[in-house]
Amino acid sequence: MSMLDPAGPTAHTIAGVAWSLFVGSTLIFAGVMALLVVALRQRGSEVNTRWWIVGGGLVFPTVVLSVLMGYTAVRSAQLTRVAPVDALVISVVGKMWWWEVRYRTPDGTDVVLANEIHIPVNRPVVIGLSSSDVIHSFWVPQLGGKMDMVPGRTNQLVLQATAPGMYRGQCAEYCGEQHARMAMHVVAHAPADFSIWLAAQAQPARAPVSPLAERGRAAFVAQRCTACHAVRGVSEEGRLGPDLTHVGSRLYLGAGTVRNGAAAMQRWIAHVQQVKPGARMPSFGERDAATLEAMAAWLESLK
Ligand code: CUA
Repeated sequence: MSMLDPAGPTAHTIAGVAWSLFVGSTLIFAGVMALLVVALRQRGSEVNTRWWIVGGGLVFPTVVLSVLMGYTAVRSAQLTRVAPVDALVISVVGKMWWWEVRYRTPDGTDVVLANEIHIPVNRPVVIGLSSSDVIHSFWVPQLGGKMDMVPGRTNQLVLQATAPGMYRGQCAEYCGEQHARMAMHVVAHAPADFSIWLAAQAQPARAPVSPLAERGRAAFVAQRCTACHAVRGVSEEGRLGPDLTHVGSRLYLGAGTVRNGAAAMQRWIAHVQQVKPGARMPSFGERDAATLEAMAAWLESLK
């Protein structure tokens, strides 16, 4: 996660400004130190104080700061890009402590997922950013700058990835005890792969593939997990927690907290308050191991 390894136009602009400031300030610092050494070595020799005060104290900083102001003003203006008409639109809502991501498919249905944003490469993506509780900040350093997510407002960020790959993002505004475990992953695909991915995500949850998964689905419904989690095709009554329709396809659980997998899923359900203390989900550790295993197996089968 480094803003010095940019993978998109706005991130390149930001990295360019950062490097210019770093190199410029290093040169000036080295110059001042060199003058200090010269001054200490030639103590007692006559110097033209007026020339040094007017030149070094007035003209030099005025020129340097003016150039810097012009340069950063021009560069900053390039960061607030106007969204092109063919841009992909995604909405992201910050929650304590995860990200709700929403796509609208070409046929007008909403696809909701969590903590993972998939985008096509070389196409601008407009991200509408809001929050349902406190102020969060959306930040994917390799793709662009930070943007606050403020309850009751929609801010906009235009991102674009120039190469396929996975880019980690992180909430950049302190938002409570699990602020540190509020990460997300942006996955950039070739355009054709992105269309395939979105079409797959738009499908309802697949039917259980084994008797174990079948028992897991029944347990999920019986334990009332559906009160908070939607699984399209099973239940859409609850939307407090992340949508789990295709949770098995996700890279991580708990907004970047642990790598996804059957063992991690079972531990998450049983001991979430140890894995991510304060998360808005109770631990279900008192359930018997067979039930937990079946639930984890079913959720992991939801690719
Ligand atoms: Cu959300 Cu910090």
